[in-house]
Amino acid sequence: LSRILRRRERLAHLSSLQDALNLLRKSKNIIVLSGAGISTSCGIPDFRSSTGLYAQLQDEGRYELDDPQQMFDIRYFKEKPEVFYSFAKQIYPSNFVPSPCHRWIKMLEDKGVLLRNYTQNIDTLESLAGVTKVLQCHGSFKTASCLRCKTRVPGQTIEPYIMAQKIPFCGTCRQQRDAELEIKRAQKQAKKKSKGKAKASWDDEDEDETGEEDEWGGGEPGIIKPDITFFGQALDSEFDECLFKDREEVDLLVIIGTSLKVAPVSEVLTHIPHSVPQIYINLTPVHHVQPDICLLGDADSIVTYLSSELGWSVPPPAAVVHP
Ligand code: APR
Repeated sequence: LSRILRRRERLAHLSSLQDALNLLRKSKNIIVLSGAGISTSCGIPDFRSSTGLYAQLQDEGRYELDDPQQMFDIRYFKEKPEVFYSFAKQIYPSNFVPSPCHRWIKMLEDKGVLLRNYTQNIDTLESLAGVTKVLQCHGSFKTASCLRCKTRVPGQTIEPYIMAQKIPFCGTCRQQRDAELEIKRAQKQAKKKSKGKAKASWDDEDEDETGEEDEWGGGEPGIIKPDITFFGQALDSEFDECLFKDREEVDLLVIIGTSLKVAPVSEVLTHIPHSVPQIYINLTPVHHVQPDICLLGDADSIVTYLSSELGWSVPPPAAVVHP
């Protein structure tokens, strides 16, 4: 109760733009926690707004999903990978240009006051804006992995499949399976030959004949999935490692363009010391958590205003070279 009262007192105190400016002016280790709202001005829909991806999937209704979030559910993906691969090209990072928010985060890094950007986005626009201290909490299309043998490949290798709306199967698995099948075949041939010479009565050997051809059970090689974190998958351990380290150094948390609906990223607010002030910049208010300062409106406009008040110049849009 004392903690809530202390936070209430601070809320009363820190509820103005001026306080936000003062905090930004004096902070040296800022964590920026960002979500889809910082990319909407780039033409990438967010997820939960009325015009977001989930509303679009619901309205379109052509993917036979019980719930739009199933599109990013690992169990559903394993059952029907063709559904995700018929859709993935719509969210595959292409010629998008970083927003003023991305450039603002880059500016914080250039000023030496960005501790880390924890982004939930998979569009890699932070990297494109030149941010190096960025943690892709929900992964990205940069790499992809085989669900069966875990082989990791560069994301570009499955781009043709995504564009052609086809399922990429794992070449490593396929080679390994073919090699193992070849060995089994050769062993069988050898056994047949030796049985032909001496009537062997190794009943137990006969079982090998009826055993499965290979550990694949004759199935297909593994399916390759982009390394974006689906519902039902754990985040990469790097998230916990970074947060464990950063929580000791952070002196300001700025949350931009996220509904804070998805754990564990949404729990960052409770994993950092209560003494660290929190600024929430978003189009819509949030009710399940109480940041110290809420600046409601268009994120690009708000960060541009803050920078101008602080005399900080947000870098202009650089000539973006897509990898
Ligand atoms: N300026 C400020 N806020 C904006 C803007 C904008 N221009 N555009 C949208 N927003 C706000 C919306 O009002 C919304 O509250 O951004 C928020 C985006 O919330 P979500 O759509 O829920 O996206 P996000 O919070 O990033 O989702 C988190 O959910 O589905 C999973 O893995 C997916 O990473 C995603 C995670």
